[in-house]
This record gives sequence, structure tokens and C-alpha cells, in this order.
Amino acid sequence: MQISLDYSNMMADAIGSEFGIYDGAISGLSAQTKNIHQKIQLRRERGELPFFDLPHSLEVVEEISSLASELQETFDNLVVLGIGGSALGTTAVFNALRYGHNLIDKQQRGGLPRLFVLDNVDPDGFLVYLSLCDPARTCFLVISKSGTTVETTSQFLVARKWIEKKVGDHYRDHFILITDPESGILRELVDREGYRSCNIPTGVGGRFSVFTPVSLLPLACVGVDIAALLKGAADFSSLVCHDDLESNPAYLNAALQYLAYQRGLRISVLMPYSDHLRDIADWFRQLWAESLGKKISTDGSVRHVGPTPVNALGTTDQHSQVQLYMEGPFDKVVTFVVVDEFYQDLQIPNYGAAPETAYLSGHTMGELIHVEQQATAAALTRNQRSNCAIHIPRVTEATVGALIYMFEVQTLFAGYLFEVNPLDQPGVEEGKQFTYALMGRQGYADKAGEYASIKACMKPRVLTCG
Ligand code: PA5
Repeated sequence: MQISLDYSNMMADAIGSEFGIYDGAISGLSAQTKNIHQKIQLRRERGELPFFDLPHSLEVVEEISSLASELQETFDNLVVLGIGGSALGTTAVFNALRYGHNLIDKQQRGGLPRLFVLDNVDPDGFLVYLSLCDPARTCFLVISKSGTTVETTSQFLVARKWIEKKVGDHYRDHFILITDPESGILRELVDREGYRSCNIPTGVGGRFSVFTPVSLLPLACVGVDIAALLKGAADFSSLVCHDDLESNPAYLNAALQYLAYQRGLRISVLMPYSDHLRDIADWFRQLWAESLGKKISTDGSVRHVGPTPVNALGTTDQHSQVQLYMEGPFDKVVTFVVVDEFYQDLQIPNYGAAPETAYLSGHTMGELIHVEQQATAAALTRNQRSNCAIHIPRVTEATVGALIYMFEVQTLFAGYLFEVNPLDQPGVEEGKQFTYALMGRQGYADKAGEYASIKACMKPRVLTCG
């Protein structure tokens, strides 16, 4: 299995010296790369970066597969309750490998349950999904590493009541709690109330948790070959875990993005030309933003750094975003993800009554999507717009596993280049605390006072129409 990174169109010889990168700038990072790699290795040995080794921990597969078989037999609907890293990876891989699964009937799905990933507390949205499910045939996977996340907690409370109303005392059989092995409210509930549970390994943060039960359990339930997913990542790991910058696609892509950022290209667009991979870009958006967008650098200074990730879809967003990418500010790098071979193709037929369309006949849709990506890349390049392409041969368990692993390693390495800690997210804390305060949580009275004083200092300016 091969994944290639074509970065020709990020270089100065393709897009000019103002925004393009010189070979010397890349080789100039070689020594730093070796140094960073050594630090990463040391931290891995000390057990501080457990996400690296997840694809090699195959014992989880057996446990997950047997639980998944049981759930497949008992339920028609699996509903993930979770948010951020507890939801996005599952959606990404589900749509990559089981595209359209929920739209086909049970028989066509091989009797497998439908999977819904609910990652919001919008009551209208939530209720639509509940109304699609028969509580007696529905199992909720409540997923939270911390076990304290307000959205997931409230979803769980609503779902518990909804199930209890229908099945009475047996409601616990309709829940699997996936959480930290030791701490958090969910873990306490498992211990106290006897819910079934799976562990999220200690030290693995939400956005790096695809290769844990967080995603593996729901994916196994809908027939994803999780052993092949892990194997794809494991087989690829040796290619992204070495210190030669120019032959390590994870390190090299991080370095290219970092060098582009230094040249003012602070927006990083990920644009798969594949419906199946659309949500991989959404998952990556969180990974890149939450990991790299930081105020304080690792040396303690205030920096306010971080590239802004944007997700787009080819060809769809050629008719929505590309005008901006082509002619707007010089502040973006576009990374295409190209699938070299689709599973099926569609011949574009001739239509004699419409001679203007004759140029399309004899071609295929697969050809067209490839040509459009190449055409967009060429046009961006001619307009001095930095762009590159990651090619994967096909969308399979192996390639998706490899791609996810590559992006995770890329993000960690980028954290070192940007000199920030990619594994924390201190910036989301204050909003959470104000939420607790406003929802009346005990111990947050001071925060409620702070909130009131912020509001008191503001002169309201509200325009209400109609
Ligand atoms: O990547 C992360 O750590 C976050 O996005 C979390 O996944 C998100 O905040 C949800 O947290 P938890 O899994 O603790 O409910």
C-alpha cells in the first residue's frame, strides 16, 4: 500500500519566491527533525505518547469484535453520544468505509444495525434521531474520555429516561459506557450502577483515540474490519516513525505546512476529491485546530499561534470555495486528497440530441473528478497559490488506517515545530466553566459572578428586525 505526497506546487519553482518554499528551507529543518524525533522516541519509551502504539495492540480487536457481534444481534440502531474526539473519528471512518450504510435496508446491510453519531445538544436535531429509532432495539454508546463533558452527560440523561420509559428496569442493557478506566462520572456510574463499559486507554486524548474502543466498537458493529484498519496503520507506522525528514510523509507534511505558515499562509485547507473521505477532512480540522491553536508556547511565552484548518470537498466546493482560494488573500495552502482508483465507475453516455455534450461521451465520472482536481491544482499553481496532493490508491480499511495514523503523527510533529503542546486544549476550559456556572453547577458561583460582571461591562447593541 502506497500513500504519496506530491508537494511540487508548494515550491518556489512552481509558485514563485514570495509564497513558495525552497529546497534549502526543507533541508534546513533536517537537524531539528532528528532532534524532535529523538524527543518523541524518549517520550514514547516513557509511555507518554500511547496513541503511537495503539495500532499494534491487537488484543483489543478480539474483545471489541465479540461485544460487537452481541450488539449486532440484539439491536437495530446504535447511537453514539459523544462530542469532539469522541465522535469525529467515528463519523469519518464510518462514512469512508460504510458510505450510505444507514440509507439501505436491513437486508442489504447484512442485518447490521444502523449507526448514528450524535454530537450536539440541539433538541430539534436530537429528537429527529430518537424518532427514527425504536427504543427497544436501540443501544447507546456513551463516549467520553473525561466522563464529565456537559453535552454528552445531558445526552445520556435524556437517552436513559427515553429508554427507561419503554423498557423499564432493563434500561442499563441499552447502554455501553466508553470512558477512562479510572476517573470521571461515567466510570463511577459503571462501578455503582453496573453499566457495561469499555476503557479508553490512559493517556490517549480524544482526538487521538480513533484506534481505541471510542471508534473501534461502533465501527466493528457496522461491519468495518477493525483488524485491517489497525493493520493499515501499523504497517504504515515504520514509514512515519523515523527521523529522515524528506522521506517521512508525516514529518515532511508538517514541515511544509509550518514553512508555508511562516510565509503568511495561515489557513490550511484539506480538500478530498472523494465523498467517502469528506469527513476525514472534518476529523482532521479538529485534530489540527485543537492541537496547534495555542496561546502559550512550550517555553512559556505568549505566542497565539496556529494554522486555521478548513475542510472542503472536491469537486463540490470548486463551485463554492475555489473562487476565494484562487483570487482572495494569499493566506492558504490547499491539500488535496486524491483517491487513485474508485470502486466503481460510471461511463458518461452519448446523447445525440445534445451535441454540445458530446465531448464528455466515452469518458467516465472517475476520469472527470481526477481531471477536475488536476485542473484546479494547475490553476491554483498558475495563480501562485500553494497546493499539494496526498494520493491514496483506494479507500480501504488499510489506507484509511494509514491516513489517520499519518495525520496524527504529522500533528504531533507540527506541535514541536510550532513550539506548542499539541496534546492539551486549555482554551476550551473557560467556556466550559461559564456553562457550568450558568447551569447552576455547585462550586461555580465565582464563575457565575465573573460572567455577570463581563455582561455588566458591555453596552448591549442588538438589532432585532421583523
Ligand atoms: O480531543 C479532545 O480531547 C476533545 O475534543 C475531546 O474529545 C472533547 O472535548 C470531548 O471530551 P470527552 O471525550 O472527555 O467527553
